[in-house]
Amino acid sequence: MKRSPRGRRPWADHYTHKARKENYVARSVYKLQEIQQRFKVLKRGQRVLDLGCAPGSWLQFASATVGSKGFVMGLDLQPVNLGRLPGVDSNVARTMVADIRALDEDALETIGRGYDLVMSDMAPATTGQKHVDAARSLTLCELALETACRVLRPGGHFVTKIFQGADHSSFSAAVARKFRRREHLKPRSTRKASKELFVVGLGFRSGGTHGRS
Ligand SMILES: C[S@@+](CC[C@H](N)C(=O)[O-])C[C@H]1O[C@@H](n2cnc3c(N)ncnc32)[C@H](O)[C@@H]1O
Repeated sequence: MKRSPRGRRPWADHYTHKARKENYVARSVYKLQEIQQRFKVLKRGQRVLDLGCAPGSWLQFASATVGSKGFVMGLDLQPVNLGRLPGVDSNVARTMVADIRALDEDALETIGRGYDLVMSDMAPATTGQKHVDAARSLTLCELALETACRVLRPGGHFVTKIFQGADHSSFSAAVARKFRRREHLKPRSTRKASKELFVVGLGFRSGGTHGRS
């Protein structure tokens, strides 16, 4: 973590401090909380797949919301130590280290099926070149959607972060084709300079193709 010479984090804002006070490992949790307030995508007892789950604030919020009868599977390039995540019951959550760009049949079998919600906060390592970052984000979104179409139950929901760029609207149109309702949200906790947007698909229409769209 980059710190200034006096040990302060110059980028830390209201949401960073709030997250620390409320025992969340990242400020990203407030984006999911706002998505939840608007669209009620999470319910008790649900099965949730969390793509790009590290360091784990969405895992914390999702596992508390689905409760002891629910299940949350997290996937990330980075390992997440569930034992160090405040409030996460290891009977409810599991994580796996994997790259969404290279999911083989074994990984898909470990993930399983019948999910009520697939949510992705995956973000590429940024280069500072907006079109490169947007293209990489789009690839992650397409793979998240492809995975969602394999593992969601009919009627399930999908949430993904995307960096707005040349092709984000065609991706959003693909979500609209696969779900009964498609929405967009830029949460209040998203940093002002950020190009990120969340695309939400509600009510998965099963029976389509599972390939890339
Ligand atoms: C903004 S962070 C997610 C924060 C998380 N939602 C939370 O609340 O703690 C984005 C994550 O996406 C992951 N990621 C990026 N590319 C990925 C890929 N190809 N496969 C899996 N995870 C990836 C990164 O490792 C990073 O942990």
